[in-house]
Amino acid sequence: MTAEQDPVKVMKQEVGKAAAARVQSGSIVGLGTGSTTAYTIEYLGSRLKSGELKDIKGIPTSFQASVLAKQYGIPLTTLDEVDHIDIAIDGADEVDPQKNLIKGGGAAHTREKIVDTLAEQFIVVVDSSKLVDKLGSTFLLPVEVIPMAMTPVMRAIEKLGGKPELRMGVKKAGPVITDQGNMVIDVKFDFIDNPAELEKTLNNIPGVLENGLFVGVTDLVLVGEVKDGQPTVREF
Ligand code: 5RP
Repeated sequence: MTAEQDPVKVMKQEVGKAAAARVQSGSIVGLGTGSTTAYTIEYLGSRLKSGELKDIKGIPTSFQASVLAKQYGIPLTTLDEVDHIDIAIDGADEVDPQKNLIKGGGAAHTREKIVDTLAEQFIVVVDSSKLVDKLGSTFLLPVEVIPMAMTPVMRAIEKLGGKPELRMGVKKAGPVITDQGNMVIDVKFDFIDNPAELEKTLNNIPGVLENGLFVGVTDLVLVGEVKDGQPTVREF
């Protein structure tokens, strides 16, 4: 790694590529969302182009993933056309020691959860800054909400002890709008002791479409690190 390279970017690149290297010809592949999986999609495209990988089909987890897949020549399919997903590769915002996740930094967690939970193997790709002892320590929990239910959902979340804030757009006036046409609130909980229970409780509030807790879904985490100035990837 040269001095002028951004270490986080290098870790993302390496781990994104390492996951793409595990995809086998003939697979149906869930394509995750975010800056790390963008490298996975790019590398899958170059493996297809070189002929080393053949006959894969991607299922995108977002508009972003489908644009990248088209850009890098990965044929796409839909959940209506396949009866299984062999492997899904996706990023995360936090990973705890049990491999539970917070996702939704890109507001794509609803489609991500659909695709990632259907996959026979779900691989998470992160740089080492995403590893935490307890979920909620560094990242607010994203919750996708149907717009007309925003106020009652926020009140219900406050009753659960959370502090919700509406996610606002960057270079866009007003709130972030998801690929489904909904809004996202980011919730601060002082601690998330029981992610499995909180995941269900939040999804049970009328008007909540999906939250960013992914509990018991991950098969393997690939962690990008820089050691002695060299990028490495370890399994966890
Ligand atoms: C999008 C996600 C992303 O996977 C997550 O935010 C990680 O993104 P990045 O790889 O850019 O750090 O959950 O909804």
